[in-house]
Amino acid sequence: MSDKLYIFDTTLRDGEQVPGCQLNTVEKMEVARMLEGLGVDVIEAGFPISSPGDFASVQAISKAVSLPTICALTRAVEKDIDVAADALSFAKRKRIHTGIGVSPFHIYDKLKSNPDEIIARAVAAVKYAKRYVEDVEFYAEDAGRADHEYLARVVEAVIKAGATVVNIPDTTGYCLPHQYGAKIKYLMENVKGVHNAILSTHCHNDLGMATANTLAGVLNGARQVEVTINGIGERAGNTSLEEVVMTLRCHKNLGVDTDIKSNLITKASHLVSSLMNMPVQSNKAIVGRNAFAHSSGIHQDGFLKNRENYEIINPTDVGVNESVIALTARSGRAALNHRLELIGYRLEQSELDEIYTRFLDLADSKKDIRDEDLLFLVGDVANVKESNIKLKHLQVMTGMLVPSATIGMSFGESERLATSTGNGPIDAAVNAIKSLINEDVWISEFILQSMTKGSDDIGRVHIQVRCGDKVVHGFAAHTDTVRAGAEAFMDGLRKLGVTEKIEVK
Ligand code: KIV
Ligand code: ZN
Repeated sequence: MSDKLYIFDTTLRDGEQVPGCQLNTVEKMEVARMLEGLGVDVIEAGFPISSPGDFASVQAISKAVSLPTICALTRAVEKDIDVAADALSFAKRKRIHTGIGVSPFHIYDKLKSNPDEIIARAVAAVKYAKRYVEDVEFYAEDAGRADHEYLARVVEAVIKAGATVVNIPDTTGYCLPHQYGAKIKYLMENVKGVHNAILSTHCHNDLGMATANTLAGVLNGARQVEVTINGIGERAGNTSLEEVVMTLRCHKNLGVDTDIKSNLITKASHLVSSLMNMPVQSNKAIVGRNAFAHSSGIHQDGFLKNRENYEIINPTDVGVNESVIALTARSGRAALNHRLELIGYRLEQSELDEIYTRFLDLADSKKDIRDEDLLFLVGDVANVKESNIKLKHLQVMTGMLVPSATIGMSFGESERLATSTGNGPIDAAVNAIKSLINEDVWISEFILQSMTKGSDDIGRVHIQVRCGDKVVHGFAAHTDTVRAGAEAFMDGLRKLGVTEKIEVK
């Protein structure tokens, strides 16, 4: 059985401090509900004294969310604590998070104080907060740069004063993992009464060490981690929730685990990213767009033989449906064939060889090959095999007149002509084609996209055609968009295997 690691999420406090990431109360409640569903233990909902908006948000979240503990931040100042307690009054489980700086920089330069006075203020703040709530967390700001012996004195004093959790922040992201781990170890071994409280990590990412430092803290006895979704937070950010959670899931032998429902991680990441206007970098661990994308031919081939050759996490564990075999000019036949099979095409080796050559040409000029491109590439090869209907002639009249189209189609040896009108030239062409076929078909989706730019652009048409309960997709591209539309419709008809309408004379 694993040791429980408490997840203290500060997306709505440290994360929300980032310029441009501010949320209104409604948005914060949406994030808080998501965090509750995700299974976090504590939500740091804000810093109530800092603004009326923060106060209102902490209050609203306290009413809306009931499973996690709701926490409010304060300085070691009575007024801050009064306001935080007020904001938390509706919370089912509540915590006040108070604290003060403990590094030489903070003690002498920021607070213009001295070590003994800081301890006295820390103890007074904890005792004051205890008047309001049982659960009081103390943060020893800039503990990362504080001297171990002094830090141990502070931690011992606040635990004696009633702190239930003591946070050891690496506020400036300065520590190396072995240093931060040693700090927690020192406290675990030298603070009298340390087992009466939980030690918490709070690591910033200025040197890209936040997750490593947090884990070093956990390995040395910390049992709460302060994290944010996507690692957002001051400057280079905080430790990211998803990285810590999934590292512990990947390394079960560490014997520590959280209650996080990891399959909701991707959803949570998308919500925070979109509400806070903070795009997630593509190569971000766990939640980046490329975290489960394989692009080189060697990796793709190895992955297709056994996903564990190149993946340590099953994407479904974090709520991603499937790994991506990114098709690029470096992809091999195995990857192309795999993708084609997923979209419903089983090709003979000779067909695959032909498509592969055309695929490489396309991939050289286009970075991102999507399924529609493949369908377009494969369309011609597959269709010629399946059907003998062809578009032989197309003429449209448009402008100020009722649009009309004349179509010539061949069904094997037989050739037919038809004219029809429509609400536009493509509709007229489609109606003319429909008048020549035996089946009742209709178009359930029609997408016209430009491929490049300018008036000489190629129009690419993606069409969904239905006949009874059979649905097929047709594709075509041409500089003449009417022709592209008619050809795409024909492409769908070939896949449906439609036949010529027999005229009853
Ligand atoms: O980084 C830090 O030290 C903090 C404290 C306020 C907990 O965010
Ligand atoms: Zn912080």
